[in-house]
Amino acid sequence: MSLSVGVVGCGAFGSRFIGLVQAHPLVGRVALCDLDADKLAARAEEFGISECYLSLDEVLATDVDAVMIFTQPWLHAPQAIQAMEAGKHAYTAVPVIMLPDGDEILEWCDRLIEAAERTGQYYMMGETTCYRHEAIFCRQKAAEKAFGHFAYSEGHYFHDMSHGLYDVARWRWGDQFDDSKRGSIPMHYPTHSTGGIIDITGAHMTHVSCMGYAMPGDEWFVRGTYWDNIYADQVALFRMSDGHTARVAELRRVGTPGIDSFNLYGTEGAFERSFAGAVWMTKDGGCEEVDLSKVEAPLPDELRGDSGHGGSHAYLVHEFISACVEGRQPRVNAWQAVRFMAPGVIAHKSSLRDGELLEIPDWGDAPD
Ligand SMILES: NC(=O)c1ccc[n+]([C@@H]2O[C@H](COP(=O)([O-])OP(=O)(O)OC[C@H]3O[C@@H](n4cnc5c(N)ncnc54)[C@H](O)[C@@H]3O)[C@@H](O)[C@H]2O)c1
Repeated sequence: MSLSVGVVGCGAFGSRFIGLVQAHPLVGRVALCDLDADKLAARAEEFGISECYLSLDEVLATDVDAVMIFTQPWLHAPQAIQAMEAGKHAYTAVPVIMLPDGDEILEWCDRLIEAAERTGQYYMMGETTCYRHEAIFCRQKAAEKAFGHFAYSEGHYFHDMSHGLYDVARWRWGDQFDDSKRGSIPMHYPTHSTGGIIDITGAHMTHVSCMGYAMPGDEWFVRGTYWDNIYADQVALFRMSDGHTARVAELRRVGTPGIDSFNLYGTEGAFERSFAGAVWMTKDGGCEEVDLSKVEAPLPDELRGDSGHGGSHAYLVHEFISACVEGRQPRVNAWQAVRFMAPGVIAHKSSLRDGELLEIPDWGDAPD
């Protein structure tokens, strides 16, 4: 069977996936969709694609089997639900949805699960951290039981605002950007730091206590804007469903080059990834450097090569296409996606209550 796929949102990020979708041996037809006619025409010419649509409604009215959505982060959940209701499998970039109101995010999580259950279509959230080389390495170690029991884990996304993020805000809002749109809520985009921990340990967050840091004189993270948030940095301590403790740091004011990764500590072995490299350690004193560039998982030859975000793009495409063709839930399905998302929402609430310990809602495991 070959799959027909619509790529929705041909902006900065989505454009990097078009060639991979085209190259996948199980994809027979690719359509492009963007509201911006100029951008759409440029991508159509670049990739030699003639089937183009100027709205999500239009592409969903065709007979494509699946859509991969790379629109602005506040559009993902409603668009994925619309796609599933139109009988398409749906992939979105992360996160599930990004909004200032945490309760509204949780309502969209409810609706996403309800739509996936009701329609029987597959939803996948494209969390890049889960397919970086270090995630592939640690999944292999976890499968070999080399960690023992997980005792402590750390997930972090360090991305200083000065590293492109002011421009990202401006281009995503487009004409709607003005001073009132300054800021964001780091914990409302938590999936890079929660995803690796949850994916590899197999446990999920049940409780959280979170603290926030407001930089003196900050003019971006301020009250009274759409986001109404002063915390540029938020650090949370989580109780996990298997009893281990996890610490997650979402930092937007930080003097480092930037990293989204994790450290995992088990009772028998441990993995650390720093700016300097990666190491695997064992209780008997073993400590070996891991050459992440040599870590691989199965991938069609057509997709091999240096894809973005630590090699993850090619694996994300392969996982979504394979799941649709094989008739199975993708690894980061709707149930797993909301487990990546909700901990951040509740962490932000905790940070507004001076670190009060709060319970995290859970939607259970994906059906088989
Ligand atoms: N590491 C990662 O996982 C990672 C990295 C970068 C971006 N992202 C995510 O990717 C998404 C896209 O980011 P970007 O920087 O490419 O944004 P962008 O603004 O460059 O692109 C979004 C595109 O979607 C189009 N669009 C919006 N609504 C549409 C609709 N209804 N139908 C068709 N097209 C529509 C816009 O015209 C625009 O071209 C974001 O949600 C972001 O969170 C994830």
